[in-house]
Amino acid sequence: MKEALLSLVYPRNKSLNMSLRVKNEMLPKVVLHNSVSLDGSLTNFEPNMGLHYQIAGKYAADAHLIGSNTVKVGVELYEEEVPAEEKEDFAKPMRSESLPYWVILDTKGILKGILHTCRRFEYCRDVVVLVSEGTPAEYVTYLEERNYDYHIVGKKHVDLERALELLSKKYGVKTVLADTGRILGNLLLNQGFVSEISLLIHPVIVGTASYNMFSDANKTGKLKLCKQEALEENYVWLVYTLEA
Ligand SMILES: NC(=O)c1ccc[n+]([C@@H]2O[C@H](COP(=O)([O-])OP(=O)(O)OC[C@H]3O[C@@H](n4cnc5c(N)ncnc54)[C@H](OP(=O)(O)O)[C@@H]3O)[C@@H](O)[C@H]2O)c1
Repeated sequence: MKEALLSLVYPRNKSLNMSLRVKNEMLPKVVLHNSVSLDGSLTNFEPNMGLHYQIAGKYAADAHLIGSNTVKVGVELYEEEVPAEEKEDFAKPMRSESLPYWVILDTKGILKGILHTCRRFEYCRDVVVLVSEGTPAEYVTYLEERNYDYHIVGKKHVDLERALELLSKKYGVKTVLADTGRILGNLLLNQGFVSEISLLIHPVIVGTASYNMFSDANKTGKLKLCKQEALEENYVWLVYTLEA
C-alpha cells in the first residue's frame, strides 16, 4: 500500500523525466511561491495574505496553478458560507487580459458547488479546470453548464507535463505561479518543472504542528540564492533558482 502511494508521488522513471523536462522548451517557467513559517510549515500559522499576493504579483504570471485541496481549504477558511450561485456565475467574466488564469487541478470534482467563489475573485481572469479521464461525469456537466474551460489531461490524475504544455500552447502562458500546498508543489519539484522557489518567510515557529513544505521532495537539483530581502515586520523574501 505504502509503495503504491509512493509511486504516485515519485514517478519511477524520474531521471528520464528530469532530462525530458530540460529539453522541452515549450513548457512555461514555473515559480513555486509559498508563505512559510521559520521552520518551513505551510499551515498552522496566519499567513500575511497582503504580502503573499504583493510578491506573487511581481511575477506577473499568466497563470496560477492551484491544487483542489488548496482551494477547498481556502474557501472553508475565508468564506463564512459559500454564497448561492447567481446568473453571472454561469458566464465567463469580462476582465483584463493582463490578469492571470487560475488553473485548478480537480480530477475528483471536490470543488463542485464552490468554484464560483474563485471565479468571482476580481484578480482572476477566469478559472480553468484540469481534469482526467476518471473525473465523474456529473462534475464535467457542472463545468460545462457554467462555461468553465476544462481540459482532460491524464488518465487518473493530471499529467503535469501535458498540462503545462497545454497552458503554453492554448493560452500562451509563459510564466506559471504555483500557489499551492505541499502535494502539488512537491510533485512539480520532483518532476523537474520548477525553475524558481519564492519563499515569504514569516517570523513564527509552528513546531510540532508543522506541515513542512518540502517533506515529500526527493530531488531539487542545485539551488542558487538570487534574492534575499528583509521586509517590514521581520518578514523575509527569499528566492532561489534551480539549476537543472
Ligand atoms: N502557506 C502557503 O503559501 C500555502 C499556499 C497554498 C496552500 N497552502 C495550504 O496547503 C494545504 C493544501 O495543500 P495540499 O498539500 O493538501 O494539496 P495541494 O497542493 O492543494 O495539492 C492537491 C492537488 O494535487 C493533485 N495531485 C495529487 N496527486 C497527484 C498526482 N499524482 N499527479 C498530479 N496531480 C496530483 C490533486 O489533484 P486531484 O485530486 O484533482 O487528482 C490536487 O488537485 C492547505 O492547508 C492550504 O492552506 C498553503
